[in-house]
Amino acid sequence: MLKGKFVVIGVTGGIAAHRALDLTSTLVKAGAEVHVIMTRGAREFVGPLAFEALSGNRVHVDTFSAPPGWRYPHLELARRADIALVVPATANIMAKMAYGMADDLLTTSILAMTCPIVVCPAMNVYMYRNDIVQENIKRLRKLGFILMEPGVGRQACGDEGPGRLAAVEDIVNMIKKVLMPECDLAGSRVLVTAGGTREPIDPVRYISNRSSGKMGYALAEAAVNRGAVVHLVTAPTCLEPPDGAKIYYVNTAIEMFREVMNLYREVDVVVKAAAVSDYRPKTVSDQKIKKSDSGLVLELEKNTDILYELGKQKTHQILVGFAAETEDLIKNARQKLAKKNLDFLVANDVTQPGAGFGTDTNIAKLIFPGGRIESLPMMDKLELADRIWDEVVKLRHGKTK
Ligand code: PMT
Repeated sequence: MLKGKFVVIGVTGGIAAHRALDLTSTLVKAGAEVHVIMTRGAREFVGPLAFEALSGNRVHVDTFSAPPGWRYPHLELARRADIALVVPATANIMAKMAYGMADDLLTTSILAMTCPIVVCPAMNVYMYRNDIVQENIKRLRKLGFILMEPGVGRQACGDEGPGRLAAVEDIVNMIKKVLMPECDLAGSRVLVTAGGTREPIDPVRYISNRSSGKMGYALAEAAVNRGAVVHLVTAPTCLEPPDGAKIYYVNTAIEMFREVMNLYREVDVVVKAAAVSDYRPKTVSDQKIKKSDSGLVLELEKNTDILYELGKQKTHQILVGFAAETEDLIKNARQKLAKKNLDFLVANDVTQPGAGFGTDTNIAKLIFPGGRIESLPMMDKLELADRIWDEVVKLRHGKTK
């Protein structure tokens, strides 16, 4: 997600300096080119070698020693940076930044930077609450620096309160928000289901449906692109799973139910694009059922309606369902919307050419509680996925206000 982005991390001397290692590793994994500047104090806590190993770049410590090809390290770092972070930011570095001091490589670089600079304070709670520190924080905000709230809790020194370094995940989300404003799902944890479940009859046969998984995979891909943490629970498909999503492979409706329920509490949004079999064979033969001269009667029993269960147990989550219909699209969709306690529903008439199962496109109507209907033209499934996430983002803003 951060491919091609040049990130400068200024590490200063606090016990949280070692957590900048995690951050470096996460940003490198996300594709960023990471350059670390360490102050003298930071090097008392962590050795530069650890940052060099993780970033793949020489650590910058000295204003007067430039890597080959660089004339002035502070100006090169400032010119190249898409974003800079101060992690952890001590009371000392914030005071220096607030008043424009430039007595080492980090402070001179910061003065020369025109990119956004994110400051992540970490210090003892009493130092953090000190009026001088709070004044400096206010001043930094006024000057355009982005200040992250520190975490609250037990500190390394044993004191309790605000002053812990913000979580690495939150810092990364902030970077995504700043660098990619289109990352409007950054910080959201979403669960998408895809594909058609397979209900076994015997070891070689099953009951399923025509779902290819394309709609669900498009939803997962679009959500990853918009910065969400994505869990994709998928029935069998022939598709490559989208990069960046956590994948849970299932076969049957029962397996899908289990995975979805396990994840439900920890997600903010569920979009159920999967075509779940409503019925399964009551008994599954251990052996391949032999052909006989007479017909074969299969007794089916009902599967749990996963979405209905999610609707019943909904607490904070936004729930989006699909309805695949062959007749009375709106009427049936409205019934499902109400019965399953959904925030909105994506209805597709699967008899229409270019809609529904297996196609790369879909034609959908978004049905909302209260009666609003938005009819969308035929569009690529990835485009429809983005339209669905647009609605989710609006709802999330409404909910978090
Ligand atoms: O996978 P593709 O080939 O791209 O096709 C896309 C699609 C047609 C599968 C997709 O657009 C779609 O409509 N998915 C929902 C299909 C479906 O099962 O619809 P339904 O009307 O039977 O179910 C309504 C909703 O309840 C769905 O969100 C479904 O996931 C959910 N459900 C249904 C039954 C069940 N036992 N548990 C459920 O959770």
